[in-house]
Amino acid sequence: MNITILGIESSCDDTAAAVIRNGYILSNVIADQDVHKRYGGVVPELASRAHQQNIIPVVDQALERAGVRQDEISAVAFTKGPGLMGSLLVGSSFAKGFALARKIPVIDVNHLQAHILVHFIKKEGESAKSPEFPFLCLLVSGGHTQLVIVRDYLDIQIIGNTIDDAAGEAFDKCAKVMGLEYPGGPSIDRIAKGGNPEVFQFTKPRVEEFNFSFSGLKTNFLYFLRDNLKMGKDFIRNNQADLCASLQKTIVEILLDKCINASESAGINTIALAGGVSANSELRAVFTYEAEKRKWNLFIPEIRYTTDNAAMIAITGYYKYLKGEFASLDITPVAKI
Ligand code: KG4
Ligand code: ZN
Repeated sequence: MNITILGIESSCDDTAAAVIRNGYILSNVIADQDVHKRYGGVVPELASRAHQQNIIPVVDQALERAGVRQDEISAVAFTKGPGLMGSLLVGSSFAKGFALARKIPVIDVNHLQAHILVHFIKKEGESAKSPEFPFLCLLVSGGHTQLVIVRDYLDIQIIGNTIDDAAGEAFDKCAKVMGLEYPGGPSIDRIAKGGNPEVFQFTKPRVEEFNFSFSGLKTNFLYFLRDNLKMGKDFIRNNQADLCASLQKTIVEILLDKCINASESAGINTIALAGGVSANSELRAVFTYEAEKRKWNLFIPEIRYTTDNAAMIAITGYYKYLKGEFASLDITPVAKI
């Protein structure tokens, strides 16, 4: 019997829908929201409104591209949280309405767990390997930075967390003070390619165990720019590439060092990356280099599965479906988990 899951993701500023059948991806549609660019960050009210506009066309497209009829969907999975409440409400309400109309189950999905499970999305005609359990996952996104031991599809243990800002937030906030376009991560990644990462040195935090901290680095970067701007107003413009490269190197080193410690301490050599920041080219390159040196079994997601998408919600929904983990129709989203 085919198990066909429609996944809906609407936790922040991307409206996304995807169809996965028996673990194989059939379609993955994302509508991003340009409306936030001019504000330099996501405006929650505008995000909810854009989700309302996008959700039906996005789902229609996902079904059409998958070549799947509504009556072939076994269950609809949606992001329960964490995320922006107004945004989450659009996706969850849509999912419930769809499920009620089609008389199929709804499945609530934790957005963070979903980022990790992208490593199990299969593609017809390709025999890509998936990580074996247990593995260590570095989950780095705009809102979270975690080290997680993944023991099974739905059995994860968080061993490290950020005590303040997330890695993606550090990228975004530092980009903002340099006047770069939102979201800052991809802008810094692009500009850093033309820079020298050894030119500037920034603070690395001392945080216990496998936890992270990025607010000190952000403040250090801000004060550094402020001091140098006093000496010349073109400091940022004249040094943009070196600033981006040096900052990026510092963030990547902080992430790598903790990952090495966690891998050694847990005795786990299978390492996976996940979340929006895992799209970063320097992070991908440094981890690839280190994996070779340390004989890690490294798993890096395809770029399209790094940032928010609904394929990750659908694959998590698929594994929850197999275990019969369904939600009742009075379920509500949660902003924080
Ligand atoms: O996972 P994601 O799409 O959303 C959250 O769940 O937060 O992650 C978004 C974050 C943003 O902070 C964005 O700047 C960052 O991922 N990001 C990057 C890159 N692409 C996205 N950071 C660094 N380099 C990139 N290439
Ligand atoms: Zn995310």
